[in-house]
Amino acid sequence: MKKSEQYFEKNLNFLRKKNLYPVIHEVDGPSSFPEILIKGEKYTNFCSNNYLGLAGNEEIKQVVAENIRKYGVGSGSTRMLSGTLDVQVEFEKKLAKFLGKENSITFSSGYMANIGVIRMLADAFPYFDLFGGGQGVIISDELNHASIIDGVRLSKAKREIYRHSDMNSLEKILKKYKNKRKLILTDGVFSMDGDMAKLKEICELSKSYDAIVMVDDSHGLGVLGPNGEGVAHKLEIYKDVDIIMGSFTKAFGSIGGFIATDNVISDYLRITARTYIFSDPIIPAVVAGLIKALEIIENGGELRKKAIGNADMLRDGLKGIGFEVLGESTTIVPLLIGTEKKAIKFAEMLYEKNILAPCIRRPAVVEGKERIRFSVMATHEEEQIGELLNECEKIGKFLKII
Ligand SMILES: Cc1ncc(COP(=O)(O)O)c(C=O)c1O
Repeated sequence: MKKSEQYFEKNLNFLRKKNLYPVIHEVDGPSSFPEILIKGEKYTNFCSNNYLGLAGNEEIKQVVAENIRKYGVGSGSTRMLSGTLDVQVEFEKKLAKFLGKENSITFSSGYMANIGVIRMLADAFPYFDLFGGGQGVIISDELNHASIIDGVRLSKAKREIYRHSDMNSLEKILKKYKNKRKLILTDGVFSMDGDMAKLKEICELSKSYDAIVMVDDSHGLGVLGPNGEGVAHKLEIYKDVDIIMGSFTKAFGSIGGFIATDNVISDYLRITARTYIFSDPIIPAVVAGLIKALEIIENGGELRKKAIGNADMLRDGLKGIGFEVLGESTTIVPLLIGTEKKAIKFAEMLYEKNILAPCIRRPAVVEGKERIRFSVMATHEEEQIGELLNECEKIGKFLKII
């Protein structure tokens, strides 16, 4: 081993000795259903974001299979070359209409969308700067998703972080940059906390201080809003949100990411966002599946009711037992534990009872905020949630958390 590599080994050895190296389970077969198989044994799965069960939907599977025959298994080039296909254009139009926006752009993942888009909205126009004042300011909630944080880090613009959902903290920063181009970034549903952004207040401030608002609604899309349009529609504020971003890896049960916005911003990003220009798009057959998924989501009132109902049952049940639980009316139910050791032990003890739910710790949350994060789906049975509550109560007592 080269000396340079020994550094990695030392760090790994340290983590392993302290039992801090994460256990990664290999799932046999499909991984996004409420019941999964690990080494031939059944486990109840509370860590998949397949909120509406669409990852296993028969109609969608059939559409994807048919379109693999038609389009093959890849687009063969980026969107700027021959990779803009009829099916992608159709999906982008339908998605934009669904979200009440003029246009939408898809990316190969939500991560790619965030790291491609944020930078270009904040930086100067990359090809020439005829109009001055090109560099903007990014203003980001402290609990935003890692892909937003990385998008921010790629930018050369000034960065400011406001305290989580604290409107005074946000306003203070906005005031500082009166004459600058400003971009406010927030998760719609916070991925580790399960709470919703204060979008009404954010949008009001954005009007007063002339800032663009971009909402990453990966976890609200499909689940919240009258037809699954997400948190901005639920709060009836979508017209004031300039950019809705999302991932298709959650309620859509598939792969890919997008932004939906007006024609000016989308035309600008199609020629500047480097993850759009230099990385191949979602494979066409999957896009055809996403069109089907969108149709199901639009008519998915019952699925949404079941998903939120299941999550409420778990959240209320955990609170009733005496746990500290975060979030409201979303499918992310985080049970706060507060120490890394106990959170790891909690997840291990659940696993011994054939329940898979992850312990969330660094780098996903800061020290002292370790938690078990349950993802609840429409396809969970009440009985599975009841069993989970029973086990949590026993473990909570054993670990002296309740
Ligand atoms: C809030 C949020 N944004 C973005 C992403 C990235 O999405 P993708 O998995 O499509 O890269 C995730 C995924 O975990 C997420 O939770």
